[in-house]
Amino acid sequence: MRRRALITGAGKRVGKAVALHLAERGLDVAIHYHHSRSAAEGVAAACRERGVEAWTLKADLSDADETRRMAAKVAQRWDTLSVLVNNASMFTPKPFEETSLDDVRALNSLHLEAPFLLSRILLPRLRAAARADSLESSLIVHMVDIAAERPFHGYTAYAVSKAALAALVRSMAIELAPAVRTVGLAPGHVAWPPDYDAATKKRMLSRIPMGRVGEPEDVARTVGFLYFDAPYLNGDVIKLDGGLSQRY
Ligand SMILES: NC(=O)c1ccc[n+]([C@@H]2O[C@H](COP(=O)([O-])OP(=O)(O)OC[C@H]3O[C@@H](n4cnc5c(N)ncnc54)[C@H](OP(=O)(O)O)[C@@H]3O)[C@@H](O)[C@H]2O)c1
Repeated sequence: MRRRALITGAGKRVGKAVALHLAERGLDVAIHYHHSRSAAEGVAAACRERGVEAWTLKADLSDADETRRMAAKVAQRWDTLSVLVNNASMFTPKPFEETSLDDVRALNSLHLEAPFLLSRILLPRLRAAARADSLESSLIVHMVDIAAERPFHGYTAYAVSKAALAALVRSMAIELAPAVRTVGLAPGHVAWPPDYDAATKKRMLSRIPMGRVGEPEDVARTVGFLYFDAPYLNGDVIKLDGGLSQRY
């Protein structure tokens, strides 16, 4: 049986690293993008060089109809899906007093509703993969954030949407296992956002016990570990932050 993965937001950064890593480990990959078409095509080409099937899909995942259409395309092309990584995200600051209900809804659409819809629609494919595979279960990874528990100042809409996603991890985990495990990954700082200046980076680095920012490959290798090597891990939101959130 061929193992297959769908990764959202996989044209760049963390999603790209996850797609490349899973391809390296033999999984066919569906690479979702929104604006980064040529980057996503490049990732697909690099995955094909690793000997697997790789294709791209475009969708605005803050739009439920586009999300549904994308899920349907995946279900049409593949009769099984072994791994779903809900990675697509928007990280834009806005003070609470300037945050509108539309801002909250937009990030909920992307961070909560799209992962819910993709999981819900593709569940029969994930179950089919589990039945056909020697591994015990298929895997859904929701990319959370340590800010779901301890929010960054000025990111209310982001933090509450990620907190809701962490709750979704737990609910899905108790209902979908054993065929499908659901795990959350909560990174700290991985591949600096482009708008951080040198002083901000230095201040943040000084707080990370590991002494470095996380690499996209750190996340990618953890996804591989969760799928191949952690068959009893289900329902946790795992911090992947070099120890940052342990600091008082
Ligand atoms: N990087 C970190 O330090 C960090 C820390 C904590 C948690 N995380 C979480 O880890 C995951 C990966 O982080 P990242 O920094 O690599 O993410 P990112 O670069 O901020 O976003 C990944 C991709 O999401 C896609 N996206 C944005 N809006 C979209 C929309 N409306 N519809 C569909 N796709 C959309 C974009 O695709 P296009 O480029 O194709 O438009 C983007 O490339 C995210 O879930 C993030 O919240 C990251």
